[in-house]
Amino acid sequence: MNHHLRLGVNIDHVATIRNARGGSHPDPVRAAKLAVRAGADGITAHLREDRRHISDDDISRLSHEITVPLNLEMAATPEMLEIALRHKPHAACIVPEKREERTTEGGLDAVTGRQHLAPYVEALGEAGIRTSLFVEPEPAQLDAALALGAPVVELHTGAYCEAANDARQFERILTAATHAENIGLECHAGHGLSFDTVGPVAAIPTIVELNIGHFLIGEAIFGGLESSIKRMRALMDKARAETSGQRIA
Ligand code: PXP
Repeated sequence: MNHHLRLGVNIDHVATIRNARGGSHPDPVRAAKLAVRAGADGITAHLREDRRHISDDDISRLSHEITVPLNLEMAATPEMLEIALRHKPHAACIVPEKREERTTEGGLDAVTGRQHLAPYVEALGEAGIRTSLFVEPEPAQLDAALALGAPVVELHTGAYCEAANDARQFERILTAATHAENIGLECHAGHGLSFDTVGPVAAIPTIVELNIGHFLIGEAIFGGLESSIKRMRALMDKARAETSGQRIA
């Protein structure tokens, strides 16, 4: 099946720049509203344990002020669960989190982490929050996500982006995205995607959402946020249209 490809814009690094000086500029909520006007289908924000970028107040304001679905990225901790249940975002993506890492360096291990993750997936699901697990593109991880009752997985594209010329990394994503559809999981992908790397991932017809942040915010320095999002949206649409054409032909 060829699904519409949604773009979730991650606005964490607008908050990173704000926090470099304290104060309130640049405002991630203003960026989120602009992202929606530029073509984002959803907004993603990661409330980290150390609050290095997004703050509790940002989540509260995003929950009230944006008109598109909010995807809250969160670690599986009691504190984050309590916050998610309080704000009830449209979606929550459970990610691994280590205090010392610069970014989310790999996917969750849903196989060995099953016992720990189970109550979080259950509680979020019971609250009506569409829950995804951020995992490495490995079929075993998807099977584990399904067994946990998560309706969605997000495939970590970091290794693919770092080694974009290594066909094996792309094959891992393609295989996992196909497996997701076969076992009935909705499939998202993200991490490290740029204008150069987005096309092949966007062309995979079983992926329905890409979450992209750091590159878009960085690129905004040169051409503006609206322009960087519109260009990303256009590259995604072009890649997806080409796949649809091939499938119809
Ligand atoms: N998806 C998930 C689950 C993430 O944790 C991140 C990074 O916060 C992204 C997507 C976006 O990655 P990037 O900022 O590299 O585009």
